[in-house]
Amino acid sequence: MKKFRKKIIAGNWKMNKTVAEGEDLATGVKRELDECPDVDVVLCPPFTALKSVGDAIADSVIKLGAQNMHWQDYGAQTGEICPAMLRDLYCHYVILGHSERRRDFKETDKVVNLKVKAAIQAHLVPIVCIGETQKQREAGKTEDVVRDQVTGSLSGLGDSITKLVIAYEPVWAIGTGLTATPEQAQEVHAFIRGVLTDMADENSAESIRIQYGGSMKPANAAELLSQPDIDGGLIGGAALVAGSFVEIVRAAM
Ligand code: 13P
Repeated sequence: MKKFRKKIIAGNWKMNKTVAEGEDLATGVKRELDECPDVDVVLCPPFTALKSVGDAIADSVIKLGAQNMHWQDYGAQTGEICPAMLRDLYCHYVILGHSERRRDFKETDKVVNLKVKAAIQAHLVPIVCIGETQKQREAGKTEDVVRDQVTGSLSGLGDSITKLVIAYEPVWAIGTGLTATPEQAQEVHAFIRGVLTDMADENSAESIRIQYGGSMKPANAAELLSQPDIDGGLIGGAALVAGSFVEIVRAAM
């Protein structure tokens, strides 16, 4: 049965914005979106700006997210951040398995799976990223790649599988200005929901939100967001300017 899924628009600032710049951007977004009951809005600044951005949005509907974390509770992991540290800063969400981390830091589905479990355990909502490269798409392997990433990253979650958000981000569309057409994106989103149905059950699969990411911007957001299985967006470049991010949120209302 088709379920209502509240749209979720998240800004992934990646390695951009100092403390002061982040505070400015968050304040700009908040000024425009003080009331936004129909859409979940999330800002994911770099670790160093989590505190200032969190303070800037504290009395608003906007939620805070991080871009990564380690799966262990604490310990000798130089340079890493654990779930409790994110909770401490009032993070609600954490992006996990972004393709830039899979590519540059060799994060595997197995590692992503450990992180997803640790996030849920810590009451953080994981935004789990998946998506194929251009080469894989051209070789006709999109479905195989996406199925492997979903089953690998989300294995062994049981009923907790409903406590996460998935972001379908075709690697070829990230930061390139190339966007999947609404039809291309919808096709993969529907396929992902089918994989989730096989892993859990239809009810659970219908309740999980699947965001699209990859050059989503004000000009294409409304059309992408009107697709039946596209439940939001994970925004990179266009989230770095308050005006364009807010326009995308409005397109989701
Ligand atoms: P762009 O919106 O810059 O293509 O980035 C998408 C992305 O990677 C969000 O996580």
